[in-house]
Amino acid sequence: MIFRQLFDSVSGTYTYLMASRRGGEALIIDPVIEKVERYLQLIRELDLRLVKALDTHLHADHVTGIGALRDRTQCVTVMGEQTKADVVSMRVAEGDALTIEGLSLDVLYTPGHTDDSYSFVMADRVFTGDTLLIRGTGRTDFQNGDPRMQYESLFGKLLRLPEETLVFPAHDYKGDTVSTIGEEKAFNPRLRVKSVDEYVDLMNNLKLANPKMMDVAVPANMKVGLAQDAIEARGWSLTADATMKLLGAPDVVLIDLRESAERERHGVIPGSLHAPYPKLRENVAPGGLLYELARATSKRLVFYCAYGERSAMAVQAAQDSGIASACHLKGGIAAWKQAGGPLGR
Ligand SMILES: [Fe+2]
Repeated sequence: MIFRQLFDSVSGTYTYLMASRRGGEALIIDPVIEKVERYLQLIRELDLRLVKALDTHLHADHVTGIGALRDRTQCVTVMGEQTKADVVSMRVAEGDALTIEGLSLDVLYTPGHTDDSYSFVMADRVFTGDTLLIRGTGRTDFQNGDPRMQYESLFGKLLRLPEETLVFPAHDYKGDTVSTIGEEKAFNPRLRVKSVDEYVDLMNNLKLANPKMMDVAVPANMKVGLAQDAIEARGWSLTADATMKLLGAPDVVLIDLRESAERERHGVIPGSLHAPYPKLRENVAPGGLLYELARATSKRLVFYCAYGERSAMAVQAAQDSGIASACHLKGGIAAWKQAGGPLGR
């Protein structure tokens, strides 16, 4: 596995870049906006293709780089389903697996620092965000933080992982880079409490100043959605109602870009074709499934996904490769559900 731990010294943030092989798909966790050029350079140097950018939670101390990375690489942005960010391409929940080529991370919901805090577990390591830090735990006094929930996330979930599991947090301010579950159980002062009430007391009396960047970072991190106006201005957007009127029309084909797990959980627009976003470039290139479908049948291609981000990027890619009939369902399945559109399995 290719694995890099990168550091932003201004916010004390760790960012993780990983891939299963050179030339393969890559995932980045908790990127910082000021460091985006550095990440892109490293991605080029390691001959990787960034396909997913993930935030463990909505950060208050730095502006996320996931939006900028999406704009530069057309990668999929990912956060937990509770996030208050306006749009991310994909939302994950406890029990999901976050996958890229050759790698799979189990999704654990670990609220407490914020109500949208998630941890991501691999065979030998866990990315704990700000839930479990090295010899510390993330503060719980803003962004719907809750020390009682954090106690559960720690003692009920993270500390139950095997003791040798490596702990990679989202921050460190002392220069530590990695720990293990066993080490934290033995030496983390915040975990030396006898009850949940003692933990709540401890966390409620930390008296910390707010992060310097909080008033800038939180609003910025809530607005990471792809600007879709250009797609709309060119007439490449359909509302859910307009799409519903096209259902069953012989000259229209709906194309679902989501992953199988998302389809199973949220349902599928009846009669649609499944063409997952990671294979899009191939599919819209000459000789590809969608390119040939559009050419052979002159059918109109209507892309959709969860929230309209992947589909907006797909429309652009399809139009760029000469598929003039490509458009998308604005707002994705979320908008479709809200409009009362029918869903099958
Ligand atoms: Fe945080």
